[in-house]
Amino acid sequence: MSERESTPERLGHDFLRALYHMINTVRMYQDNNQLVQSSVSMFQNMLKELTISGDVSLQHHRSRFHLGGEKLKYRRDMAVIVYNMLELFSKRDIGSINFLKFSSKASPENIIMFTRLFNDAIRHENPRQWLEQKLNEQDYSWVQLSPRQDDDTTVDSESLEDQRYENARKNYFQAIEAVKEVANKVSQGMVGIRKTRRLAQNIVDIVKADPNLMIGLSTLKDYGDYTYAHSINVALLATCLGKHIDLSDISLEHLTICGLFHDLGKVDVPKDVLLKSEALTDGEWDMIKTHPVSGVRKILMLNSAPSLRSKIILGPFEHHLNIDMTGYPGTTFVNHLSLIGKIIRITDVYEAMTNERVYRKPKYFTPDQVLKEMWKEAGKSFDKILLKRFIHMMGIYPIGSIVKLSDGSIGLVTDYPDETERSLPLILRLVDDGKGNWQRGEMIYLADQTIKDDAARLNIVRGIPQAQCRINPAEFFLHVR
Ligand SMILES: [Fe+2]
Ligand SMILES: [Fe+2]
Repeated sequence: MSERESTPERLGHDFLRALYHMINTVRMYQDNNQLVQSSVSMFQNMLKELTISGDVSLQHHRSRFHLGGEKLKYRRDMAVIVYNMLELFSKRDIGSINFLKFSSKASPENIIMFTRLFNDAIRHENPRQWLEQKLNEQDYSWVQLSPRQDDDTTVDSESLEDQRYENARKNYFQAIEAVKEVANKVSQGMVGIRKTRRLAQNIVDIVKADPNLMIGLSTLKDYGDYTYAHSINVALLATCLGKHIDLSDISLEHLTICGLFHDLGKVDVPKDVLLKSEALTDGEWDMIKTHPVSGVRKILMLNSAPSLRSKIILGPFEHHLNIDMTGYPGTTFVNHLSLIGKIIRITDVYEAMTNERVYRKPKYFTPDQVLKEMWKEAGKSFDKILLKRFIHMMGIYPIGSIVKLSDGSIGLVTDYPDETERSLPLILRLVDDGKGNWQRGEMIYLADQTIKDDAARLNIVRGIPQAQCRINPAEFFLHVR
């Protein structure tokens, strides 16, 4: 994808990233903040390059951005930014922003003011009209807005299905942003977690209505910064397991927040240590091992009711402790793990082991193999009963598994429509278009085959590692292609 990207396209993505970065830093910090200054100058440089031969418009149309009339191709590492930018535009009823030829001449102060107005617009009844009025009143002649086109809002025949994904997707990406914001701000002082709580409640609602979709979404591994995607995935899986064992709504909410925050302490560990693909030195391991305790320290700094804080510190503290109390941090403070700690322990290991990119291991495991490997540790690393429930919930081939079918074709496990039947999934057949791209094929429900002859019935032969077939399951769950 990115290696075939042309220069204008790369420029387009860089511009989108610069604009997004500026909008966010301006929202969070004062004008004189270093981050604001550098994000504005980055944006200005990009603008200069783009408008060198004339006006350029940034437009969104059917969930894609077009820059200067050219559609920006889907890029996995840009998915979160593109998604959030679409939200920013849509909520303000903006279809396109036109940057005029001389716009890079606008002063940094003027650009910051424009960005503040853009952010503030959301608080007004007709955001775009309000913003346009402000732009006309003052000197912002370098920028023009256009409304959203009607067909951006029309929903087609797949609208219900789309809404279901849309809602889940929205919460997924918002959760990434919320955790990032808390992680970045918590060391600077008190941060509230109202937004995180609201998102946790949304996640709980979706999990209660549609747990399998959330398990599918948790296959997203490499969108931007993996630590954050990992935290959301752990939160989703933990909440699904919590729902599977009938926890109350309030416990589910605490569990979700614990999942979101369990690796908060990792912001203090140097990135090169976190992402190192070779074996870690003893010193580096020691650094990693500090993260549960520093995570707790951060949670204690959060501006929230002490009763809530007390509910969300144990999970992050315990998530690297085994059921036999080995692991880290070494402690005499607790002699058994809390329910939340045990759940996060299971979902954290599963999430990390199913990530083929980051997890340091000699070989890749398919999701079904991960479950088998984990089962070997039942009663030692993991609570046996909970792990059993987890495996039952995930199914023999967990949602998101890529599998070889008995007719030789390749499929993606997308759902277990029957709550009580976890061996016969709904499978999306994937078809190679001959150019190395996988296209959606037919849907096959293994439990619903009318063919009586056993030999002709389709079944799953085995799981296939993602890296081997270069399929990213999350793309199919997100409908982002
Ligand atoms: Fe961790
Ligand atoms: Fe983790």
